[in-house]
Order: sequence, then C-alpha cells, then structure tokens
Amino acid sequence: MKIPINIPLVGKEEIDAVSAVLKEGTLTSSANLGGKNVQEFEKIASAFTKSKFVIAVNSGTSALQAALLALDIKKADEVLLPSFSFVATANAIVSTGAKPVFVDILKENYTMDPNDLKKKITKKSKAIIPVHLYGNVAYIDQISEIAKKHTIPIIEDAAQSLGSTLKGKHTGTFSILGCYSLYPTKVMTSGEGGFITTNSKSMREKLLMIRNHGMVNGYDTKIFGLNFRLPEISAAIAKIQIKKLPKFLFQRKKNAKILSELISDLPIKIPTERKNEQVNWYLYTVAIKNRNTVMIKLNNKGIGAASYYTTPIHKTPFYRKKILLSNTDWAAAHVLSIPIHPKVSVKNLQFIAKNLKELV
Ligand SMILES: Cc1ncc(COP(=O)(O)O)c(C=O)c1O
Repeated sequence: MKIPINIPLVGKEEIDAVSAVLKEGTLTSSANLGGKNVQEFEKIASAFTKSKFVIAVNSGTSALQAALLALDIKKADEVLLPSFSFVATANAIVSTGAKPVFVDILKENYTMDPNDLKKKITKKSKAIIPVHLYGNVAYIDQISEIAKKHTIPIIEDAAQSLGSTLKGKHTGTFSILGCYSLYPTKVMTSGEGGFITTNSKSMREKLLMIRNHGMVNGYDTKIFGLNFRLPEISAAIAKIQIKKLPKFLFQRKKNAKILSELISDLPIKIPTERKNEQVNWYLYTVAIKNRNTVMIKLNNKGIGAASYYTTPIHKTPFYRKKILLSNTDWAAAHVLSIPIHPKVSVKNLQFIAKNLKELV
C-alpha cells in the first residue's frame, strides 16, 4: 500500500536507544520493579496518563490478562465485553477460565451500549471491559454507574485509545485498571508491549507480582503469575516514543479535521468527537453503504483503507455464539477506516477524498 492504514514511526533516536541497551548488555530484569528502562518508561507514562502507577508489560493482551488475574477472575465467573473489538479482549478472559459475555455497541461511536450491558448482568458477572474502540471514548459515565450499582469492577481496554480523554481525564484511568497496547500500528509503539494504569497501591503491588510469576524477591511465588515482563529494548523504544506522542496526536487530529472537511458533503457517516471528548484518532472510521466495493477500489489505488472488524468476536469459529447483536452486525458490515496517521500528507488526503467521492 502506498498509503498504509498505520505504520510505526521510529527514527534515529529509537535506533540509538536500542543500540545503547545492547551495548550496555542488560536486556531484561526479573527484579520486582523491572529494569532501568522499564521503570523510566513507567514514570513517563504515569505522568502522561495522570495515573498514579503504571506497570509495563509485554503486550496489550498481557495487560488484560494481568488485570483480570489481579481482580481474581476465574472459572465460572462472567466478564462482559463488546463483541465489536479485537479478539484479544475475549481471549484474555478465556485464558482465566471465565466466560466472555458479549454486549452490543452503540452506532454513535462503536463502543459498549450501556443499556444492553444492563440486560446482560447476572449474579456471575465479575468484571466489565468496555473498549475505547478506534480511540473513541466509551460511554464510561453510564457504564460506571451501572457497575457501581452492581459492585462490579471495570477494566478499561484502552489498547487503541492512548491519549484519548473525556473531560480532560485519560481513557484507562476512569476505573481501577486500564490496559494499553504498544503494538507497532498503535499511536506509539515499543515493538510489542503494553502497560496497565492504576491509582491503587495494592493493585500495583499485585500486578508487579503477576508480571513476574507471582514473585517478590525471587523464588517466593505468593500468587499466580506469568512472564509478562517488557524487555529493556522495548522499554527503551517506548521511552522515546512517548515523548513524541503529543506531536503524533496533534498531527493525527489535524489530518482528521482536514479529511472531515474534504468529505463532509458525502452520504457517509463521518466520525466526530462528542462534547468534552478528545479522540486520539487512532483510526478514522466512517460507516458506508457499499463498504466492501469501496474498500477494494481504494486498496487498488494504493490507499490502505481497512475494516475493523468484518467479523465480530461472537461470530468467529472459536466463539461462535447464536446471539443477536444488531448494532454490532451493522457496524461489521459498514465500517471502513481511512489512513490519517502522521505520515499522511495533505496531498494524500486530497487523493483519498477524490477517490472516495468517485466511489460513494
Ligand atoms: C481493543 C484491543 N484490545 C487488545 C489488544 C491487544 O493488544 P496486543 O496486540 O498488544 O496484545 C488490541 C491490539 O492489538 C486491541 O486493539
């Protein structure tokens, strides 16, 4: 693709940081607090998200698994999540032995429908995982109210929404635990990686153990844990990337605005920010009637338009569930994400808009 949907934006500084780690020779640390770069990255990420504590891990999936383990989610428990997400959200739940319960989404911004959530809560519900999909902030006030009423903790899946805020508060910090991904196509990367935010000291201590086989001082496993440690090379990259993040987010926002202006007269649903919401523009996603034809034709022109997700989780072969989630089905058939990452130029945006106009 001439204009890919998302690409990692790494340069000389990241290369130098990786070289420095290799030369120094400490590639990881199984100490409770992790390596030097891990700890430094955690400090910067905690200042960025305005969260008291950050625990870096080796993927967004690990972040979700660790968060579920920290809440003692286990067999026979039910965890509520939207089916319209990346499969990692559900896989993390299954890995604990718990049962994923799929909730429909709202057409407005493709995130969890609080009303459908209400209907799906049972005595077995032990956690709720709203996903801030595409960087759009889920209806967290309503979801939190429902969760509070039933005393069910929330884990936010903020894998796609690093930098998105509502009323100035970062996604991932509205609840006890927030989980982020640093996969290469995300708004910033560490190669593979992720992290968890929390304001709870006891959760932080538990997560530090879970990250490292439940140990504190080594060979003293106190609780169940795994190897969720972030390598030092990845942490060194993440440290540079998070400093560049505000600039990346500024450029994404600018591109989103330009594209919206260019295609505002087309008969398609364009993404908008609600009052008090700042989106990180991880994915600029429109809803469009003849989605598949448009996607193929844009791809043929070198425009990496992509659809996240054409198959909702509950319809994949592994999860196959006979439930009706009508807005989820609608979204799966209509959404199309268009490249607006920082390397997309104004000329690129004009080319994309021109092609869209011809196709819609
Ligand atoms: C919504 C969502 N949840 C979880 C993940 C898992 O993150 P990772 O790929 O870093 O394991 C991703 C990203 O890939 C995601 O988009």
